[in-house]
Amino acid sequence: MAQHSSFLEVAWLLIRGELPSQEELDGFRDEVTYHTMLHEDYGRFIGALPKNAHPMPVSAAAVGALATFYQEPETAEHVQRSIVRLIAKMPTIAAQSFKHSIGQPAIYPRNDLPYCSNFLHMMFATPCEEFEVDPVVARAVDLLLILHADHEQNCSTSTVRMVGSSMANLFASISSGISALWGELHGGANQRVIEMLEQIRTEEGSADVFLQKAKDRGDTTRLMGFGHRVYKNYDPRAAILKKECRTIIERLGGSSELLDIAMRLEEIALGDSYFIERNLYPNVDFYSGVIFKAIGFPTNMFTVLFTLGRLPGWIAQWCEMRADPSFRIARPRQVYTGATKRSYPKKR
Ligand code: CMC
Repeated sequence: MAQHSSFLEVAWLLIRGELPSQEELDGFRDEVTYHTMLHEDYGRFIGALPKNAHPMPVSAAAVGALATFYQEPETAEHVQRSIVRLIAKMPTIAAQSFKHSIGQPAIYPRNDLPYCSNFLHMMFATPCEEFEVDPVVARAVDLLLILHADHEQNCSTSTVRMVGSSMANLFASISSGISALWGELHGGANQRVIEMLEQIRTEEGSADVFLQKAKDRGDTTRLMGFGHRVYKNYDPRAAILKKECRTIIERLGGSSELLDIAMRLEEIALGDSYFIERNLYPNVDFYSGVIFKAIGFPTNMFTVLFTLGRLPGWIAQWCEMRADPSFRIARPRQVYTGATKRSYPKKR
């Protein structure tokens, strides 16, 4: 799908269960295009948040707030509309929160641009001059979103299901998923990978010194972007992204210094008994940040890009759960192992 599809086509497949016909895909693209604008009051809502806020909690708050703008009853028709609204408005929310953080005016969506080009335009255009979106960059973002689109019961997806199982609406459930994704052991790892590569470049001197720390059991340092609960081999998404890094850097003419450090780290780690014995390989976050950085996204926006990609997966999982005839509220059992009886402290 990374080779042959567009992100919206993948989104349709995940949510509907089948690949769309050309007519269905065109109809879906149209619907998404005509729902990209935010209510004008959103500007004030996002504007009231601190400028230095991380864009992940801003996005979680903004998606949660969609439930205040669209208070419709949860009929099948309205759920379909909420799905379109989420996919359409998420890039606008992401770009608007970025513009707020740097003190620039929000750029309105453009209906003549495809999904990812429109997002890039809202991120990087200003009202002062024309901004042309490079189609190669737009395709790279589309590819990145496809690769993040769904990944079974990871932490954020399980959170979306857990919250939705109480009959909380789609916006509230997705907002919780965004919060779960923020952590550095999950989606937040893509930001931490670049911070690690930059730290190696400026402080550590070499990849070898850093890896010694990552292997030291007495040190909490981890090789970010390595290891996975399910993949005990090379994450296929990382393999695709590694190739894409070089293409994008060559196209944009940027420095390949961080990519070179990443490749050196990978090379040493894959030959090191610590990583071999524990089956630790690069995961999706290891190379994605290098591409985001080369395109010009600020580091703290990386996990928001993961959010854009994971959105259709979360939606599909939420819908699947709700449609399941054996659907019940999620309720993990607890086995209590604490004290059986304790006394109130004596009054003084
Ligand atoms: N660097 C150094 N050691 C590691 C790493 C790492 N990145 N990952 C795991 N280990 C070690 C860990 O210390 C443990 O060693 P020991 O057996 O000696 O105690 C062993 O490998 C098993 O690790 P674990 O923490 O039990 O593995 P897990 O399945 O619970 O955790 C993980 C998976 C992804 C949280 C973990 O590998 C990690 O922290 N990786 C770095 C963060 C990261 O890249 N996260 C993105 C995950 S993929 C995309 C996503 O879900 O968002």
